[in-house]
This record gives sequence, structure tokens and C-alpha cells, in this order.
Amino acid sequence: MIKFEKVTKHYSKNKALDDVNLEIHHGEFISLVGLSGAGKSTLMKLIIGEEQIDGGKILIDDIDISQVRKSDLPYLRRKIGVIFQDMKLLPRRTAYENVAFAMEVCGHRKDKITDDVPKILELVGLLHKKDNFPHEMSGGEKQRVAIARALAHRPVLLLADEPTGNLDEVNANEVLDLLLKINHLGTTVILATHAADLVNRIKKRVITIENGKITMEQEKGKYKL
Ligand SMILES: Nc1ncnc2c1ncn2[C@@H]1O[C@H](COP(=O)(O)OP(=O)(O)O)[C@@H](O)[C@H]1O
Ligand SMILES: [Mg+2]
Repeated sequence: MIKFEKVTKHYSKNKALDDVNLEIHHGEFISLVGLSGAGKSTLMKLIIGEEQIDGGKILIDDIDISQVRKSDLPYLRRKIGVIFQDMKLLPRRTAYENVAFAMEVCGHRKDKITDDVPKILELVGLLHKKDNFPHEMSGGEKQRVAIARALAHRPVLLLADEPTGNLDEVNANEVLDLLLKINHLGTTVILATHAADLVNRIKKRVITIENGKITMEQEKGKYKL
């Protein structure tokens, strides 16, 4: 699904990724681990085309993303859902409206939105909070709304960049359980994190990145830094 071939990325003189080779298959759950500044977010930004590579190649389903026309990038992007540490919810919109708005922006029809939003909220276990505003929800609930919003386009790939970074253990585990469930339903998930306890719970593929280089790959791995 995703292939990095000798990918290099600089920010001015600062090397963020250095000769990264990587292959991720459909349906995998990847934990991308590394200390702050290791290059995890950069790797994700390259996948969604938010930053450009300086060397090498990134293929997504055999499409070289540096060759994709700017005007076609939104179509590629829609196959990918993204969630962040700060959930970036619209503060004056309810859980329902946050998800519905994401679908409106993508041009979905009203009846499709009315049909889909409750189903997605149900999937993340928050249908009963559909009329709540972000300030009326816990951190974990807010993150689950953000996940619902990312799922609104039915992405084949979900990128989660430190999604539990602001959460306590209970909420972090809830979010992780949801990511595992989404993966189980068929979506490929890449979870960037430095939460060792979470990674050790997952027991799936772990990719360790240090100073912009992949230094370890383990199947059913543990966090070892
Ligand atoms: N926009 C930017 N401009 C300059 N340097 C950046 C920028 N974004 C990230 N970096 C640098 O690139 C390196 C990797 O950062 P990042 O991918 O954010 O790491 P991580 O997500 O693992 O914490 C760090 O040294 C960081 O300071
Ligand atoms: Mg980061």
C-alpha cells in the first residue's frame, strides 16, 4: 500500500528523514515509535502530501505521489484519514455537527450525511453524545469524535499522530481500543507514539525511528528505546 524508497527530507539544513525505506501493506496496524524530533510527524506529512520529499520516492498503491498533480491531491487525501494530538474539533459545533461538517466540505449529499453520521458516531461509541459540544466531553471522547470525523470519508488508511498525547491512561486505552477496532474492520492504521505501555499492549508491527532513520522493525514488537 505504502512504499518509501530512499526517502530523504530536510527542513533547510535540518535533516528530518534520512534514507528511509519502508513498506506497509493493506490491513496492517503499525506503531511508529521514536522520541520527540525523531521524524514521525514528518513521515506522516509526506504521506498526505503536506510536505514534499527532497530525495527518493513514495508510492501509494503504486502511484508515485510526487508525480500526482496538485489538483488531484485532494482525491488521494480523501483515501487517508488523519488525527492529531490536539483534536482540532470545531468548538461551537456538536459532535454530530463536527462529523457532518467534514462530510459537507467533501460534497456529500444531505441524505447521505443524515444516514452516515449516526452510524459513524455509533461505531466510535458516542451516539449518545451526538448533541454535546466539545467542552462537554472528556479528552478521550473528543478524540473519538475526531476519529469519527476522520472516518467520514471511509479512508483506507488512518494516520494517528500522537492521538493519546494529551490523555490520561484510561482515555488513552479507549482511543487505542477504537483504533484497533477500526483496523480490525479493514482500515490500515499507522499510530505514531512514544507511549511505551500502549505499544507493548498492541503486539503488532513496530517501526522505530531515531534521528530520521529507521533503526528497528519488529513483527509483534515491543517498545525498545
Ligand atoms: N517545519 C519545520 N521546520 C524546520 N524543522 C522542522 C519542521 N518540522 C519538523 N522539523 C524538525 O524535523 C525533525 C523531525 O521532526 P518531527 O517529524 O516533527 O518529529 P516527531 O514527530 O518524531 O517529534 C526535528 O528535528 C524537527 O525539529
Ligand atoms: Mg510529531
